Amino acid sequence: MRFVDIIEKKRDGHALTKEEIAFFIEGYTNGEIPDYQASALLMAIYFEDMTDEERANLTMAMVASGDQINLAAIDGIKVDKHSTGGVGDTTTLPLAAMVAAVGVPVAKMSGRGLGHTGGTIDKLEAIEGFHVELSTEDFTKQVNEIKMAVIGQSGNLTPADKKIYALRDVTGTVSSIPLIASSIMSKKIASGADAIVLDVKTGDGAFMKTVEDAERLAHAMVKIGNSVGRNTMAIISDMSQPLGFAIGNALEIKEAVETLQGKGPADLQELCYVLGSQMVVLGGHAKTLAEARTQLEAVVADGSALEVLRAFITAQGGNAAVVDDLTLLPQAKFVTELAAKTSGYVAKLEADDIGTAAMLLGAGRATKESEIDLAVGLVLNKKVGDYVNAGESLVTIYANREDITDVEQKLYDHIILSGETVAAPKLIHSIITE
Ligand code: URA
Ligand code: CA
Repeated sequence: MRFVDIIEKKRDGHALTKEEIAFFIEGYTNGEIPDYQASALLMAIYFEDMTDEERANLTMAMVASGDQINLAAIDGIKVDKHSTGGVGDTTTLPLAAMVAAVGVPVAKMSGRGLGHTGGTIDKLEAIEGFHVELSTEDFTKQVNEIKMAVIGQSGNLTPADKKIYALRDVTGTVSSIPLIASSIMSKKIASGADAIVLDVKTGDGAFMKTVEDAERLAHAMVKIGNSVGRNTMAIISDMSQPLGFAIGNALEIKEAVETLQGKGPADLQELCYVLGSQMVVLGGHAKTLAEARTQLEAVVADGSALEVLRAFITAQGGNAAVVDDLTLLPQAKFVTELAAKTSGYVAKLEADDIGTAAMLLGAGRATKESEIDLAVGLVLNKKVGDYVNAGESLVTIYANREDITDVEQKLYDHIILSGETVAAPKLIHSIITE
């Protein structure tokens, strides 16, 4: 096989065979195919797209490029959740504890990541003593016993994706549906998921700015998953404003606990029930989404979901007393209210820029080397559609530095008030099951 023939075939709009796709992924991963040829193929895929079959073959070739986690020793159907990312997305922890309480095993591999706040692991490290270094044996045992464990990323998962993503980043080929869909799905499949629930975000703070683009990506991923034997569902959810109230690591742990007590922000609470219902159905613990939701509401109401969180924290070395005494979380030195300058309805809370304001405080990493301040961040006191009186607090700012005028300015610039009533944005735009 000559790689130039494969490039020309795609350039001319033809579908590649499974063997040709495998030739590309293997050759590029082991360094036999140079960047310039891989770039040319990626650009051809960008313009000519891929058939459903090509997308599935590309995904599985990337899975085969590295290690694959085997979760067979864990009882039951392992359902994983993936969010395409947004601002203040506190969902993973409360969702995991809820579905685990219903009986769905949550064997989660998680990352730290770059962004406005840390990843799930950073957030968990706000709990004193908590660690994510578990042996495979302990990880398996913990999930079998208490249904929930979170482990740090280990091994050499999907090296093809890492290399290709870096190349896409500098060749204008990131925003291609077949490339994004195969990238995300290959990582989920390599980490051992039997079934996958996708939370595809849309809006200002999301990768996919419009509902139509988010739906195209969701359909692509659901098709890939189902065609390779992993039951997959997706929802399209709003990210035009941050999710919930809290944006920050310890602040989001507090918000997660409140959500498990049934006292979370309305949007976060609802999103957990909607995603959780899909996980419970895919996990085989309910026949319908409605039946699953009833179970989830029950484990929140009777405290058993919170009990799973306590057991999970204890099992991983953390101080579970934090659940009942949230002041045990890292506390910021300076707490300031951002007062509204005029009265009006909140028309916009521009997610991306509000996330950047949290990052200016130190809640997230700008580069892989940056240190995160777990205590700092923002808590929104108003969401889009709410009325605020002049002088009332829009946001509570948690900082570890005294001068926060840059953060205040950023927030004032990106919180837009209006004299007219504003409708709250729809949280769930659609549910995609095939
Ligand atoms: N996230 C991923 O993991 N891959 C992409 O290609 C885009 C977003
Ligand atoms: Ca939040």
